[in-house]
Amino acid sequence: MNNPAGSREVDQALRTRARDVMPNGMYGHLSVRRLPPEYPQFYDHGAGARVWDVDGNEYVDLMCGFGPNILGYRNSIVENAASVQRERGDTLSGPGECMVELAELFVSSVSHAHWAMFAKNGTDATSLCLSIARATTGRSAVVMDNGAYHGWAGWSNLSPVGVSPQERVNVFRYVYNDLPSVELAFQEAGPENVAAVFVSPFRHNAGSDQEMVTGEFARGLRELCDRFGAALVMDEVRAGFRLHHGGSWEPLGVEPDLSAWSKAIGNGYPIGATLGSKKFLDGAERIFATGSFWFQAVPMAAAIATIQTLQAENGIDAMVRAGNRLREGIDRQSKEYGVEVRQSGPVQIPNLSFAGDVEFERALAFCGAAARNGVILHPAHNWFLCAAHTDEDIDRALEATEDAFRTVRAKFGGT
Ligand SMILES: Cc1ncc(COP(=O)(O)O)c(C=O)c1O
Repeated sequence: MNNPAGSREVDQALRTRARDVMPNGMYGHLSVRRLPPEYPQFYDHGAGARVWDVDGNEYVDLMCGFGPNILGYRNSIVENAASVQRERGDTLSGPGECMVELAELFVSSVSHAHWAMFAKNGTDATSLCLSIARATTGRSAVVMDNGAYHGWAGWSNLSPVGVSPQERVNVFRYVYNDLPSVELAFQEAGPENVAAVFVSPFRHNAGSDQEMVTGEFARGLRELCDRFGAALVMDEVRAGFRLHHGGSWEPLGVEPDLSAWSKAIGNGYPIGATLGSKKFLDGAERIFATGSFWFQAVPMAAAIATIQTLQAENGIDAMVRAGNRLREGIDRQSKEYGVEVRQSGPVQIPNLSFAGDVEFERALAFCGAAARNGVILHPAHNWFLCAAHTDEDIDRALEATEDAFRTVRAKFGGT
């Protein structure tokens, strides 16, 4: 790893090799094909809130693996718990004691949860919610936000490519924070056919500004689901444990029937969880769902350590502190350079967009310059703070965004 700073040689060579043996050389949300050339595709290692690419370049990481990194890469408490379990075994012929312990921890932490099931990914967790809602209600239709991502399965995939239209016949859409549009979706589906209404803790659809939920909308969804006998399903995959320890809508006092979790719950170890109320236990007991690696003990041990550490060390406060420092700094720089931006969503899961940026050209130039200066951001997806982001990390990130604002101003002028 002795390349000069800014070198991309090893990364380029790996991209060439990958193109010969993998679709597009890299697929999915971690592909940088549509990002500026400054972005590394391949990483070597991470520590705390920093990552190093395969050419040895160091970055402050404000994407946190698109969410899983919540305590810091290679957090010693989590790594120690994972190592202890790994010594005993990981995938065995049945689960370890840690599965029951993790379920107990979820049930005691998340207010609506009376039981828990574990899987691997967010898509597993949301699909489990839908199956359980269908099993409990005996209905098929699902109502969800018109741009929300709930996973790559046929019923939830935002792309129609490779999805049969039949997989979508039971899907009806609403507009976030717009109760009449939810009522309309119920009417279109036939209220007696709706098994579940999916909702995100706040609107965090990729490619658009984020929007916090209104109390009226949250309470209205609960009331509609109760009136028509549908399950209210909270998709906590992206936001879970970054807003509140007891569930993202805990302060609103609105409880879902089912919730889906993944990303951050194991600080990077592969695990998803579906939680539910007593009423939906019957459906959860009747569906058949399993996976070869769903009962791995190491990710469960990692998840116990992650959740306990987040609670004990007040990880959410640390993310809020770092997030506020970042938001205030970006606000200051935007005014200084006369480049109008919108910062939306909670500071722990921030989103930045530029006035007049229809094709994301300003956001792309901004994030390209930031990557060149050693900071990983994203032009069209929210960013993630973690509890390991220090003031020094944020100040380092702000040095990079200062240059990024200068770049945008020089290229596009002021707004
Ligand atoms: C809100 C939300 N739900 C579900 C998913 C799917 O999770 P996974 O990619 O782990 O299957 C994601 C992934 O980004 C997500 O952000």
